[in-house]
Amino acid sequence: MTNGSKPIAGVIGWPISHSRSPLMHNIWLKTYGINGTYVPVETAPEDLAHSINLLKDKGFRGVNVTVPHKEAVFDLVTAKDEAARTIGAVNTLLFEPAGLLKGLNTDAAGFVASLKGSAGVAWTQGPAVVLGAGGAARAIVYGLLEAGVQEVFVVNRTVSRAEVLARDLSGKSDHKGQWVKPHPWTSLGTLMKNCALLVNATSLGLEGGAPLEIDLDPLSPGALVTDIVYAPLETPLLREAKSKGHVVVDGLGMLIHQARFAFEAWFDILPDASPDIRAVLEADLKKSI
Ligand code: ATR
Repeated sequence: MTNGSKPIAGVIGWPISHSRSPLMHNIWLKTYGINGTYVPVETAPEDLAHSINLLKDKGFRGVNVTVPHKEAVFDLVTAKDEAARTIGAVNTLLFEPAGLLKGLNTDAAGFVASLKGSAGVAWTQGPAVVLGAGGAARAIVYGLLEAGVQEVFVVNRTVSRAEVLARDLSGKSDHKGQWVKPHPWTSLGTLMKNCALLVNATSLGLEGGAPLEIDLDPLSPGALVTDIVYAPLETPLLREAKSKGHVVVDGLGMLIHQARFAFEAWFDILPDASPDIRAVLEADLKKSI
């Protein structure tokens, strides 16, 4: 514990030892002179409600929520922000006065913020192609709609999941005139020809797991390519896209930016996404590979 003081925020997951959140948040707590620490809280699914109550009683400002609790915690909160409600998952809890428990989703805004530095690529004009239809993909599609992307194609192995995603996220009051369309994997080549952004929001490509095997030849030459996987930092998808001349954004940006927005919700300070934080995370990733 970097500050040697009272825990005031943390991350709940099962398991939790892999989480890089304590690394980031403890640096920011120190940087901004906030007296407290951010701690990992390992919590089995059956203990989730009890654990959250305990943290509230201990005076925590809030916690991040990670795998496998992001959906389960949805039913435990007393209020939700618009992003959490629409996405159907909570990644940040805020303990408010009078015992209120607010659920936020900062993954969507974190994803969009990670792309904002990609100067010269007009990805907001769309269309966007998102691979995957799990919780991460739902947050990303919501973020893209919020950023004004008109057309989002969701390509998933299990098409019914993409259909549910499209139904849940298309045509919300704030997203009039924008739409989300589900597609099977076989449509990918055709969809890539005319897209401004390709996102891998599946777990494929993760260190030690199954690879993401797609042919990037049909991809529109100016398209931005991004991957939510950040271990390895340069996934085979990003390496190939780069070799074909595409601008690429790795998954570390989303991790950092979702954390910045959570920190802001708890402490009213939006930390800088400084190169230092990125360097610390990169060094930590190298250690564990
Ligand atoms: P998360 O909440 O992190 O998004 P998830 O809900 O388990 O995790 O979603 C994982 C995504 O990766 C899904 O889109 C999944 O496809 P299915 O919905 O068909 O399961 C995708 N995925 C995982 N392994 C895959 C594989 N071997 N081939 C294709 N897609 C895969």
